[in-house]
Amino acid sequence: MPSESIDLIVTSPPYDNLRDYKGYSFDFESVAKSLFKVIKEGGVVVWVVGDRINGGRSLTSFRQGLYFQKLGFAMHDVMIYQKKNTPFMRSNSYTNCYEFMFVLSKGKPKTFNPIKEKTVRHGYEMLVHNKKSDGINKKILGKLKPEKTKTNIWQYAVGLGGTTSDKIAFNHPALFPEKLAEDHILSWSNIGDLVFDPMCGSGTTCKMALINERKYLGVDISEEYIEIAKKRIEWIKKPNAPSLFIHYKAEKRNDNPFNEILSERRGVLSERRGVLSERRGVLSERRVVLSERRGVLSERRGVLSERRGVLSERRGVLSERRGVLSERRGVLSVPK
Ligand SMILES: C[S@@+](CC[C@H](N)C(=O)[O-])C[C@H]1O[C@@H](n2cnc3c(N)ncnc32)[C@H](O)[C@@H]1O
Repeated sequence: MPSESIDLIVTSPPYDNLRDYKGYSFDFESVAKSLFKVIKEGGVVVWVVGDRINGGRSLTSFRQGLYFQKLGFAMHDVMIYQKKNTPFMRSNSYTNCYEFMFVLSKGKPKTFNPIKEKTVRHGYEMLVHNKKSDGINKKILGKLKPEKTKTNIWQYAVGLGGTTSDKIAFNHPALFPEKLAEDHILSWSNIGDLVFDPMCGSGTTCKMALINERKYLGVDISEEYIEIAKKRIEWIKKPNAPSLFIHYKAEKRNDNPFNEILSERRGVLSERRGVLSERRGVLSERRVVLSERRGVLSERRGVLSERRGVLSERRGVLSERRGVLSERRGVLSVPK
């Protein structure tokens, strides 16, 4: 790979032999040196890493961070990836719920597109204002900002639907969330930049680079994981787009292949809505027929009950007549 050819690397290494990646070994120092060689001046490496925690923290992450600095990288930021769920429970310590995201840069980062979030308070307020040399805080009426730059602790839900909705990706044992990769891609690169993941596993970084109109390059030592990555990419890319590990060239915003998938899904949804509305029509027709039948039944019940009334009247008349007859028989049988 040519030197200084990559704009951004978003990756997560195997650490502390916590997972068995098909038995492959990992030489951190030679990988770190290669990353320093291929990243452009002003380029950024996001290194997502945790520590083994059983038996005391291994601090592998810190050692790696210090080694990166020794190579010439600046530790631009130490960010936290906090997992909203499925944290690792420990009996004698607080529950671990985070990993580090080292933001390493070769020189000063050439790109920073800060992700913003909405502020809680809006409108106007008396704001502290301290311009004079007397050091006294004065307050002036000022407009509150509607949004602010995110903090460097990023929270993500993990598991199916959180990390990704691609079930196939879970055949890999250690994914990071799609949103995490996307947030870094948006922050540290621009449309058309080349994003690289040298340990791409299930292809999360590549997928999010493609969706966000960056070129992408992914490498993994395991062919099995590369097959998963290829499938995830196939699902989102244009029918005649080049395959994984070849740069995707985005031309303009509406050329984003993700739009195509969205429009396909919208089509499927609208078809389903059509089917549902037909079914509703059939159901409503059936309801009308049922209600008609109920009307007919209730009329018949009315007629029956009338007839029962007439019958019971006749029985009364008959029983009266029987009484009269039996009285007459009594009179006739009296001995003279
Ligand atoms: C933590 S996983 C990365 C997962 C990825 N971020 C994702 O979301 O799918 C680390 C990956 O490094 C790969 N790996 C291990 N040793 C490697 C090596 N020497 N060179 C390249 N990849 C390696 C493993 O196969 C594994 O897929």
